[in-house]
Amino acid sequence: MPIERPVPLPEEYELTYRVAAMPADTNYHGDIFGGWIMSQVDIAGSVLAVREARGRVATVAVKEFRFIERVLVGDLVSCYTAISRLGHSSITVKVEVYASRQFDDPAVHRVAEAVLVYVALDHEGRPRPVKR
Ligand SMILES: CC(C)(COP(=O)(O)OP(=O)(O)OC[C@H]1O[C@@H](n2cnc3c(N)ncnc32)[C@H](O)[C@@H]1OP(=O)(O)O)[C@@H](O)C(=O)NCCC(=O)NCCS
Repeated sequence: MPIERPVPLPEEYELTYRVAAMPADTNYHGDIFGGWIMSQVDIAGSVLAVREARGRVATVAVKEFRFIERVLVGDLVSCYTAISRLGHSSITVKVEVYASRQFDDPAVHRVAEAVLVYVALDHEGRPRPVKR
């Protein structure tokens, strides 16, 4: 069965990255480690930023990050992204994270939200203007 797009998600968000949460990604309580979720969010945001920048970017800031609900082993984690601001060399990306539980729970859970800033870089690793 296809995974439904979460209903409250505004049109501007696109599905950028989807990954399954595995046992190796848990903390010692058996829940998925927050740092793993942050890493997936950074990857998702960078995919959109690289596309917008048409080249290399670096994460310069995590402006907001909120864990809303637990992620469980076996969840399919979907990161939806949208650009919230284009600066001279910076790209601010909003990320909404949803988890689909396997088998017995048809609901799609909103598990995290974040805002990250990326900077377009030249070959020497210096900020460069974002092409428009
Ligand atoms: C990214 C980096 C090259 C920026 O260098 P810098 O000297 O801060 O460059 P600038 O001051 O010109 O800032 C570049 C842009 O980043 C923005 N920026 C810098 N720090 C920021 C912060 N804390 N929050 C939001 N935006 C920030 C600036 O506003 C500017 O945006 P604009 O060009 O759209 O106006 C440098 O900070 C760096 O290499 N950081 C390490 C990046 C990294 O290793 N990330 C993790 C792995 S990807």
